[in-house]
Amino acid sequence: MASTHGAVQRAQVLVASNRGPVSYTVYADEGTGGPGSLRAKRGGGGLVSGLSAIGSDADSLWVCAALGDGDREAVRRADGGVLPAEDTGGQRVRMLDIDAAVHTDAYNGIANSVLWFVHHMLYQTPLEPVFDTEFRRQWASYEAYNRAFAEALAEAAAQGAAVLVQDYHLCLVPGMLRELRPDLRIGHFSHTPWAPPDYFRLLPDDIAAALLNGILGADRAAFLTHRWADAFRACCHAVLGPEAATDTRIGVHGLGADADFLRKRAHEPDVDQRMATLREEIGEGRRAVVRVDRTELSKNIVRGLLAYRQLLDDHPEWREQVVHVAFAYPSRQDLAVYRDYTAEVQRVADGINARYGTPGWTPVVLHVKDDFARSLAAYRLADVALVNPIRDGMNLVAKEVPVVSDEGCALVLSREAGAYEELGTDALVVNPYDIGGTAEALHAALSMPAAERAERSKRLAAAATALPPARWFLDQLEALQR
Ligand code: G6P
Repeated sequence: MASTHGAVQRAQVLVASNRGPVSYTVYADEGTGGPGSLRAKRGGGGLVSGLSAIGSDADSLWVCAALGDGDREAVRRADGGVLPAEDTGGQRVRMLDIDAAVHTDAYNGIANSVLWFVHHMLYQTPLEPVFDTEFRRQWASYEAYNRAFAEALAEAAAQGAAVLVQDYHLCLVPGMLRELRPDLRIGHFSHTPWAPPDYFRLLPDDIAAALLNGILGADRAAFLTHRWADAFRACCHAVLGPEAATDTRIGVHGLGADADFLRKRAHEPDVDQRMATLREEIGEGRRAVVRVDRTELSKNIVRGLLAYRQLLDDHPEWREQVVHVAFAYPSRQDLAVYRDYTAEVQRVADGINARYGTPGWTPVVLHVKDDFARSLAAYRLADVALVNPIRDGMNLVAKEVPVVSDEGCALVLSREAGAYEELGTDALVVNPYDIGGTAEALHAALSMPAAERAERSKRLAAAATALPPARWFLDQLEALQR
């Protein structure tokens, strides 16, 4: 590791997450800046808004992992791993070049194939999970990857600094960091659901205990909803015994939509342009049932399509009158099960179009290429938003659609999404496994009188923006420093 003694400016507020606020692509030849040039692409989200809200950037540092070749090249060119400020919007970001094989085991192997599956309850349990020697090998990488974060944070944090550790990728960091730096105030935040004890205990006992004890190394462990916080407590009780967790405070901070940003962004010219194109794809006078997701197993896109097909069967009056606009953007394509799921989404959508489509009507318009402006365009014109995850930490789409909707939108919402805690009253709530029930909810949503829809949409938007990202972040920071 490069010696940065003396040169390092120690931070008062630190954030740690696997994915950072910027990612890099390296151009082999034809790129705009010539061969080997790097292009930085900035992301958004709650942490970005939160860190910008604390003001003086010099006092904060975001520690994240290099995720691909471009990122790794950027770290090699960066001074002590701290990225150029012009790439990060002024934010101080330290990217860790963790050995690529170790990162792959930790991220794809443990975080996304085990921990994500446990908390979203995604296993097909007759055949999986299998905790064998290969799992133990990957677990060792997960420990090494967490240790790399803990060491980087320990090195960069000022005396008594606040460190906000994010998500299931970094469950062991709080405990490791506590040992290295007992002076720090450490928070952990889970952006996912938390599994109930019976499901969590699919994990080998020592691994279950290590994950919980890792998080309990924090002064404060926070979750998006009371339901996930309660599940965490119940897991501590079941795995570690009744005396566990006494020193760690548990908090709940429900992340809301960023209304100011969304409303402004949704009225820029590129969004208007895409609205025009979408209107053509949908066709004059037809309703739109919209969904926007990563192609993610937990989002339940296939059952959403099956419910739409059921709607066309049970209520043929909607044929030719409605289009299901489904955006399913690529995600975690290194994992075979995600690639298979993506193919299944396409297959089911094609099947519906083949069976019901007519020369003038395509029942399902599926787009799989990520396009933020087009997502906002779909939000604006949606008559119905379909958000039916089998389990979801929060689900921001459910919150964003009512905020930018032009004329109000009916929300069909899974009771298994964290957002249900805040939006349940004005949404049409479904059991995500129940195709018939979801089809009926779609019918009710499409049939809802315009005035009622607008009223509900307004109340949904108010609930959805109650805790904007900057506030969400600052609340956690204040609670930790108290
Ligand atoms: C979830 C997780 C985040 C993660 C995101 C995208 O929302 O809670 O931590 O960044 O999914 O997943 P990815 O694997 O692409 O980072």
